Amino acid sequence: MNYNFSEKLRVMKPSAIREIFKSLGTPGSISFAAGNPSPESFPISDIKRLTDDILTNQPVTALQYGVTEGYTELRELVSRRLKTVYGIGSCDDDTIIVTGGQQGIELTCKVFCSEGDIVVCENPSFIGALNAFRSLGARLMGVPLCENGIDTAALEKILSENERVKLLYTIPSFQNPSGITSTLENRRAVYELARRYDIIIIEDNPYGDLRFTGEDVPTYKSFDSDGRVVYCGSFSKILSAGIRIGTLTANKEIVSKIVVAKQVEDVHTNVFFQMVTAKFIKECDLEKHILKIRELYRHKATVMLEALDRYMPKDVSYTRPEGGIFLWCTLPEGIRLSDFVSLAAEKNVFVVPGTAFLPDESEPTRSFRLNYSMPSDSEIDKGIRLLAETVSELR
Ligand SMILES: Cc1ncc(COP(=O)(O)O)c(C=O)c1O
Repeated sequence: MNYNFSEKLRVMKPSAIREIFKSLGTPGSISFAAGNPSPESFPISDIKRLTDDILTNQPVTALQYGVTEGYTELRELVSRRLKTVYGIGSCDDDTIIVTGGQQGIELTCKVFCSEGDIVVCENPSFIGALNAFRSLGARLMGVPLCENGIDTAALEKILSENERVKLLYTIPSFQNPSGITSTLENRRAVYELARRYDIIIIEDNPYGDLRFTGEDVPTYKSFDSDGRVVYCGSFSKILSAGIRIGTLTANKEIVSKIVVAKQVEDVHTNVFFQMVTAKFIKECDLEKHILKIRELYRHKATVMLEALDRYMPKDVSYTRPEGGIFLWCTLPEGIRLSDFVSLAAEKNVFVVPGTAFLPDESEPTRSFRLNYSMPSDSEIDKGIRLLAETVSELR
């Protein structure tokens, strides 16, 4: 049978990262390719107890259809936490529960972008968001990311030359894939440009709670006096990724449109896991749990940075993240990224080539992403040593 698939499907690509996962089965392989939270971060016994309690005492609510906006108690708890921890949420805003931060990002693009409209993305950026924007027919334009955040001169050039820019998508804290956190000055300058050119900002902050060094930086949403920021949050990295609980906070008018689009997509987010999440926040001290995860990643990041400092040739550069689960490594001139990734894979060490994270995948890059949340300490040490050897062999 010859299947005649849609035009839309043609632009959808399998995630390069999920493809790399397929070659990871070999015993002894070391993967720095994942984006998963550490299994040690899952509060398994608490979740077991809470699910049992819910199924015993509120089974019908857990198993019945729910409302699209989300389980009311969870919405209230999330709104309160966003206000307390991040200063987010004015009386003009609403918070809803979505099926992972991924859905919040995708729905925002869906309600704002028509075919051919432009989404400006950090270059590099999160592959899941880039693919969502592509699948909706949006055009992507990359804006370079510097040490302090978005290159504002480059952003202004893009905005002044392209009338069809609707959205700016940014991950301001512990960015995926670069690990970079933008400064407050940078955020304010970007916000001013968004105001001047009247565009919406998607602030994606799934790693915001995972700071392990340095000072907190205010979110865009906390100083969003215009109502132009859509804030996407997630429980994936602080509770469980598999339960698919995300949050979205924006001006009420935007939220009302997103709710309609969500209704069409999946009716509502899994009620049972919304109840588990609400119960965890109420009964299990989420903030204390987050502190434990921060410690875990502080340790892992330190092990990786020490290994990089010890083994990597001096002309290999890398970011030093203050939180999150990734850092970004750049090879010296003269070494081809594809040769490096292949030779590393022959040594059973897997990294994601930077190409996967570029809004324009045909652009050349010598960078790759390293994840430290999944490998063990000894794997990190051995894997980085093997990557350093790979660089030397390719000279
Ligand atoms: C930057 C970024 N945004 C959003 C997501 C999606 O998170 P969720 O599991 O909440 O859909 C991820 C997941 O890795 C991510 O790295």
